[in-house]
Amino acid sequence: MNSSLRFGLEALSVHIPRHHLEMGELARATGVDPQKYLQGLGVQSMAVAAPDEDPVTMACEAAGALLRDYRVDPACLGLLVVGSESGVDEAKPIATFVHGLLGLPPGCRTFDTKHACYGATAALRLALDWCEARGARAGKKALVVASDIARYEVGSAGEPTQGAGAVAMLVSDEPALLAVEPWPEAVFTQDVMDFWRPNYTACARVDGQVSIQCYLRALEHCWGDFERQSRLGFDDYEHMLFHVPFPKMAYKAFRALHEREAARRGGELPGLDALFAERTEPGLWVNRLVGNVYSGSLYLSLAGLLERGDRRVEGARVGLFSYGSGCCAEWFSARVGPDAGAWRGRVGIAEALRHRRALEHAEYLQFRALAEHLAQDDSCLEPLPGPSARPRPQYLGVRGDRRQYRAPARACAGQAAEADSALALAAGALR
Ligand code: HMG
Repeated sequence: MNSSLRFGLEALSVHIPRHHLEMGELARATGVDPQKYLQGLGVQSMAVAAPDEDPVTMACEAAGALLRDYRVDPACLGLLVVGSESGVDEAKPIATFVHGLLGLPPGCRTFDTKHACYGATAALRLALDWCEARGARAGKKALVVASDIARYEVGSAGEPTQGAGAVAMLVSDEPALLAVEPWPEAVFTQDVMDFWRPNYTACARVDGQVSIQCYLRALEHCWGDFERQSRLGFDDYEHMLFHVPFPKMAYKAFRALHEREAARRGGELPGLDALFAERTEPGLWVNRLVGNVYSGSLYLSLAGLLERGDRRVEGARVGLFSYGSGCCAEWFSARVGPDAGAWRGRVGIAEALRHRRALEHAEYLQFRALAEHLAQDDSCLEPLPGPSARPRPQYLGVRGDRRQYRAPARACAGQAAEADSALALAAGALR
């Protein structure tokens, strides 16, 4: 590998909630043609956070698995940044909860970054700079976590584009997984109201069609800027990964770049669908099953690429496009590590998907109602056991107010209710 590629991802881990809603079930219940969701938006199912899951517990699940599975010594962590737009508190960052629950050293700096779905990329950029400026020299690494729940109003056009999940990334000067190329920055910021979430609501507000145009405009700016500065062109990337609010959006983004390139070459370019299948689809399969995880969506695609990747992915150049509404966007490029084939099946996606339970539409509505209730008053948070087929989550919300409501599962095992379905407790809490 090129010796200038010194910083990037050493390890990566994913948490996917244990419940999901099939798009066919949503379409049936709402009287919509299922092909609109399956073909029109490209979504098959979306993860649904149970009432006992939130961005703190999901971040802990992903980061805890990373530390455990890759035998990372917590003492080496000098920085923990959580990128999220679903904070549980206006003052206390998610990162501090995670720091406490994972038992990280006091000398580790913690904070959150927020800029809609760009939050985790802001955190990653900052972590890379920190590693280069001082972390690596001090023998320290950074932990970046993206954790979000995407929620729109029930019955709204945004409803089929929800999801939930977390991605944890270890950033260091040993980028076994992905080395970020040190090209100049290609960033685009514009003050637009395409998507936002006021403090008084748990659901995002969105001008859907406007948001699609904002995304594509930001892509055009970032791509053009990066191409000009780096001299890398369309065919220099083996893979192109995008922020994925819904998979068809990644297709629209790829199509925009393909059209631009075709125009430049006077039409001499292999077909759009074949190139899309080769370059973007290998990561997108997981977004189709999980839905939008906001700040983690781009990195979920990366995880999907690695989870199913074989030796052919090793050394491949990947272009990454991050978009956060509001808006801020960035294009950057990276090289997959030389032994990345060894990551096949190890990122945690296959395991998580195997143990998911499909909700009926009525159950999904009950989960939603409880989540909205808890957003107003968290005094009734209960530990909810997972479905018996799946190992219990490691971190749960527990009874009490926010001063004491987080504890590792093992600490609240005695309080865990007898019921073996999260739904039974969710319904009980609503009564
Ligand atoms: P909509 O307006 O109900 O859908 O909502 P539509 O009428 O535009 O149809 C969607 C697609 O389905 C179209 O395909 C239709 O033709 C097709 P397209 O023309 O786009 O290729 N269609 C069908 N296909 C097959 N059979 C049928 C059928 N009917 C229609 N029977 C919208 C769609 C995405 C606007 C909505 O879901 C929404 O508002 N979602 C949330 C906003 C969003 O995801 N925006 C994306 C860009 S902004 C972003 O990515 C940032 C974000 O992640 C937030 C952040 O940064 O934090 C959202």
